[in-house]
Amino acid sequence: MTTTSFAERRSRLEAYFDRTAMDAWKQLTSDAPVSKIRATVRAGRNTMHGVLMSWLPDDLAGLRVLDAGCGTGALSFKLAQRGAKVIATDVSASLIDIARDRRPAEIPLEAIDFRCGDMLQSECGEVDYVVAMDSLIHYETKDILAALVAMGRYTTRKMVVTVAPRTPALQLMRTMGKIFPRGDRAPAIVPAHIPKLCQSIGNEPGLADWQVGRTERVMNGFYTSHAIEMVRR
Ligand SMILES: C[S@@+](CC[C@H](N)C(=O)[O-])C[C@H]1O[C@@H](n2cnc3c(N)ncnc32)[C@H](O)[C@@H]1O
Repeated sequence: MTTTSFAERRSRLEAYFDRTAMDAWKQLTSDAPVSKIRATVRAGRNTMHGVLMSWLPDDLAGLRVLDAGCGTGALSFKLAQRGAKVIATDVSASLIDIARDRRPAEIPLEAIDFRCGDMLQSECGEVDYVVAMDSLIHYETKDILAALVAMGRYTTRKMVVTVAPRTPALQLMRTMGKIFPRGDRAPAIVPAHIPKLCQSIGNEPGLADWQVGRTERVMNGFYTSHAIEMVRR
């Protein structure tokens, strides 16, 4: 079930990633030179890729994995290289097109099913794993919980997601953003209080079959994100 706040955020994110920030995102997720600030983000994201992939089996042959909010597809490619059958969804059609173009030649076309749409309405059937890297960071904590409940219903093994942790630096950026409104500004990141979020996961009836496993924060320059592993009880 999609709440009004989730749907409202999703359409702002679609506009942002599909148009406003499409070129910047394309560049950030490539090997092209970027500013020093963006280089810290790129390095932080690479570290996060490593964390999330280390929480998944080395051999994903024949297993179905949903890359929820796949962007330009970097994680989808890593998953496919481990043998997974990947369903890669994103609300931005432009980013999905870039991802399709970037598929490395050694990955068969049928290994990744790229779909444009809402990660919560992907109608992908049962999957073994869900990966959602930095695609929930713009949503309210209650909507993150609802997304976990929704995706948990069709995930048989594990979900690995990232959320934005509440840190003084992120809080400051959020406040500054409010002071200086800008039409094409990124939809604000919504920092989550990690211990409270983990507690809410434990108390959420819709996640009664799930528990939090490992968590790990990655902080590198202008990149901060917190990985959460959700495992079946
Ligand atoms: C910060 S980017 C991360 C992309 C990718 N996971 C990565 O780490 O490279 C967030 C992505 O989530 C996508 N997104 C946000 N909400 C979504 C939703 N409800 N369904 C599908 N994609 C969504 C955005 O379009 C964007 O591509």
